[in-house]
Amino acid sequence: MKKKFYITTPIYYVNSKPHLGTLYSTLIADVAARYNKLQGKATFFLTGTDEHGQKIETKAREMQMEPKAFVDSMIEPFKKVWQQYEIEYSKFIRTTDTDHIAAVQKLMSQLTEQGDIYTSVYTGLYCVPCETFVTNVSEEEKNVAGKQVCPNCKRDLQEISEESYFFRLSAYQDQLLDFYEENPDFVTPRERFQEVISFVKAGLKDLSFSRKTVRWGIPFPGDPAHTVYVWGDALTNYISAVGFGDTSASGAEAWKTWWPADVHVMAKDIVRFHAVYWPAMLMAAGIMLPKKLVVHGYVLIGDTKMSKSLGNAVPPEELAATFGVEQVRYYLMRQMPIGQDGHFDLKDLLQRVNADLSNSLGNLLNRIVVLANTNGLATVAAPEAWEASSARLRLQAREALATYVDEMNHYQFHKALSAVWQFIADVNAYVHTQKPWELARTNKELFAEVVSAVAHSLNTIGIMLLPIMPTKMTTLLAALGVVLTDETIDYLEQCRVSAWNNTYTLHTSSEPLFPRIEKTMEDIKPTTPVAAEVTVPKEAFERIAIDDFVKSHLVVGTITACVPVEKSEKLLQLTVDLGEYGVRTILSGVAKSFTPEQLINTQGVFVANLNPRKMAGIMSDGMMLFVSDGKDGLVRATVAAPVANGTRLT
Ligand code: MSP
Repeated sequence: MKKKFYITTPIYYVNSKPHLGTLYSTLIADVAARYNKLQGKATFFLTGTDEHGQKIETKAREMQMEPKAFVDSMIEPFKKVWQQYEIEYSKFIRTTDTDHIAAVQKLMSQLTEQGDIYTSVYTGLYCVPCETFVTNVSEEEKNVAGKQVCPNCKRDLQEISEESYFFRLSAYQDQLLDFYEENPDFVTPRERFQEVISFVKAGLKDLSFSRKTVRWGIPFPGDPAHTVYVWGDALTNYISAVGFGDTSASGAEAWKTWWPADVHVMAKDIVRFHAVYWPAMLMAAGIMLPKKLVVHGYVLIGDTKMSKSLGNAVPPEELAATFGVEQVRYYLMRQMPIGQDGHFDLKDLLQRVNADLSNSLGNLLNRIVVLANTNGLATVAAPEAWEASSARLRLQAREALATYVDEMNHYQFHKALSAVWQFIADVNAYVHTQKPWELARTNKELFAEVVSAVAHSLNTIGIMLLPIMPTKMTTLLAALGVVLTDETIDYLEQCRVSAWNNTYTLHTSSEPLFPRIEKTMEDIKPTTPVAAEVTVPKEAFERIAIDDFVKSHLVVGTITACVPVEKSEKLLQLTVDLGEYGVRTILSGVAKSFTPEQLINTQGVFVANLNPRKMAGIMSDGMMLFVSDGKDGLVRATVAAPVANGTRLT
């Protein structure tokens, strides 16, 4: 029987497109899944989308769409980015899937029948964006108006009173604490686990498990006036995806094969749901608990968490276009210390691509392959015995692999990668001292040994990096004549016990493995954060015929003079040369954004055929056009090159 490995990501809300933060979580799970596959394990990697709840319904309404049509429209954007980033999931679950709905209802029925769910009235402060009642009073915070705000998203809370089904969470407090004690590695990193333990020790209250106010959700079994609380619905995905509630033979088989999950991956924002509520639900249902929660920090932009609601999310598609998919995968895994928050920085990304990937690794491969081929050594066997410096390199390879495995087993991907790059530096140093380009002329035997030692090293490097850069490393290994296809082999173990007696056939390539990015930060800047909020074109505005549009005369003019209007904080009085439309006096309410000096002698766009209008006692004959800079300021609308005054925009 093959060993198994089942890993999950959070299921993402579909009210926005994937961004670098959600990609980061998904990537951690993908790398872990690939790392386990590399060891010949049968792996199941689950990701998907969380589609019910108030937030989603509100968003759908905003878009003037039915909730189901809206959530359906959001699936492709997720799948597209995951595919682009080589996220090799086994299943993409949606909480609107019928088998998931059936599984949730089954679980709720079971818990209700056995008395773990009961009805009562819930009154509490509710945060609509976070879909959560804020229960811990000490966590409450106030806004400037003194209103209580959500400790998570800082938005206003609403007091809600409603009849609700309750889950008897409090009954599981002791069992949970016992479980934590018996499983000291349940949550990593340790600090996050401590927070969970303290929270549970402080006392658990029963959890409101249904909503009457939310219509877009799974009907509560036997009482469709209620919908299942979104977290009760969402957490159940981890079991519904692998056969819970499915009575068919294949469902039973999946359940037996995969549950319990080996790892749930998530950021620190949702640890409590996974480390307290979820285990308690499973305990109540008599289901085994997941083995581990891997909790990572936030991807920060500046000092702020990257998030769709904050509008600072980086679109992964743009990054891939500029830097390459696997380069971004590498950067995220290398740069972010997994347990802590990490800063996303384009300069670091550029630097890592050029220094780590192009220079250190790409050049090493290229150099040795070209050197071997130009010296008639395309196929290189291992020597009978290794010289001391080569034997040392072999030892360094073993040490690097041991550190890598240890760090990967603990989900310390950045440290594992740091060990790999330390080894790459060792290999480069070995090449530097051995000078194989000289040996090619002076000592053919030693030349072959150096080529062989470097090829063995690159083989180990390629295998270690496969989970992070699967396509690039497949190419690297192919350049050594190595193809890994057998899913039952533990390739890491094979590497570990290797006696370095392989024969490699080195293939040259016209393409560098990691092309240098010869761009400056100025060229790259446009990729900086843009909002990833879903934007569906507004259909609500009134459309006009072209005949209506041509009625307006939009004309380029030069501001020849400009003075503030007395007694007005907002108005500037402009004298504008509009060519054949004449020299006009035009008032503009932009005094807070521009000084007269900033406008004098600039060209702008004006509406020339508006009815004149008196403002602050002055007649204004026309209107100057500006656009918002997206913050509080304005930007002048103008043309890309100077044109004659009076030229009309057509
Ligand atoms: N739907 C719930 C999860 C239910 S799981 C049963 C949810 N969805 S979410 O869309 O808000 O995603 C939250 C998760 O997205 C975080 O836990 C984290 O895994 C990931 N991230 C979102 N923003 C992130 C960063 N800026 N940085 C790192 N991870 C980020 O909560």
